[in-house]
Amino acid sequence: MNPKTLRAQLLAWYDANARDLPWRVGPGAHTAGLRADPYRVWLSEVMLQQTTVPHATPYFLKFTARWPTVGDLASEADGEVMAAWAGLGYYARARNLLACARAVAGDHCGVFPDSEAGLRALPGLGPYTAAAVAAIAFDEPSNVVDGNVERVMARLFAVEDALPDAKPELKRLAASLVRKDRPGDWAQALMDLGATICRPRQPLCDRCPVSAHCAGLASGAPETYPRRTAKAARPHRYGVAYVLTRGDEVALVRRPPRGLLGGMLALPTSAWRATRWGEAEARAAAPAEAAWRGVGEVEHGFTHFTLTLQLLRAEGEAADVVWTPRRDLDALPSVFLKAARAGLGNLL
Ligand code: ADE
Repeated sequence: MNPKTLRAQLLAWYDANARDLPWRVGPGAHTAGLRADPYRVWLSEVMLQQTTVPHATPYFLKFTARWPTVGDLASEADGEVMAAWAGLGYYARARNLLACARAVAGDHCGVFPDSEAGLRALPGLGPYTAAAVAAIAFDEPSNVVDGNVERVMARLFAVEDALPDAKPELKRLAASLVRKDRPGDWAQALMDLGATICRPRQPLCDRCPVSAHCAGLASGAPETYPRRTAKAARPHRYGVAYVLTRGDEVALVRRPPRGLLGGMLALPTSAWRATRWGEAEARAAAPAEAAWRGVGEVEHGFTHFTLTLQLLRAEGEAADVVWTPRRDLDALPSVFLKAARAGLGNLL
């Protein structure tokens, strides 16, 4: 493999095929001297660390319409930002996002540091985000490695070591292709290649601009890279979610500040445990005395476990709950929105 030809081919492909994304300055405009807004690059990278471009895009547009600058975001109340984040999952990220925005607004006069090291020193901004923002917004030749780039490297170089042990090796291989020439475009070209051609399943090798260099393709089974050690099955947990209504309103509670979905509004639930809940114990754990009836269940996948929420529904009163109109329930985290929808007979 010749890194120089590989780079030229991938960058030429990016020039012709770059995805049009709302936080991106495309290769043509970038060559003409336009630079991406670090705030928008940072926000998009944080969102994209946990979800796909199609899912993150409406959130990105909503955030930037409501908070056009990092200063606007920094001065917003926590609860407003957490509610706008609902549905993106992983709420610790929203808290880190605010901590970082406030540091930029407070300690850096609203201007993002323009180096990977400076970015890394911000609270809540991890190594991946620092590298990505440095490359994309400031054209620093940093090594931007996410899961997509790991996959591309594992295939290009037919890396036989399995993830996660192979991570340092994949990072080293990615670094071997970084140059001072067009670092931001290079990072984004690799991302686009990973997302549209070098896909996890059924890669489109016949359309790949660098297939001639690909040892994985030469092996005959490129889709089998990256190798993975067999994963332990995700554990399963069970809980009961209580859908208590008072006319048009639904009873919600605020979850404790730390831990999973910390600080978010939620349906009241029982504890989550390894075994299913029986009817009597589910009723005994309810937040109020009411004529509870079973209305099915929903399943939700978290990163480290799968949760089945058994649903009980009743009309009634309860103390210490936040009565919320049905039309406002879309600020709930996905798992509870799903449960509320199912519990209310999909009438949301
Ligand atoms: N995935 C992660 N970051 C991205 C970006 N900047 N553009 C496209 N896809 C991405």
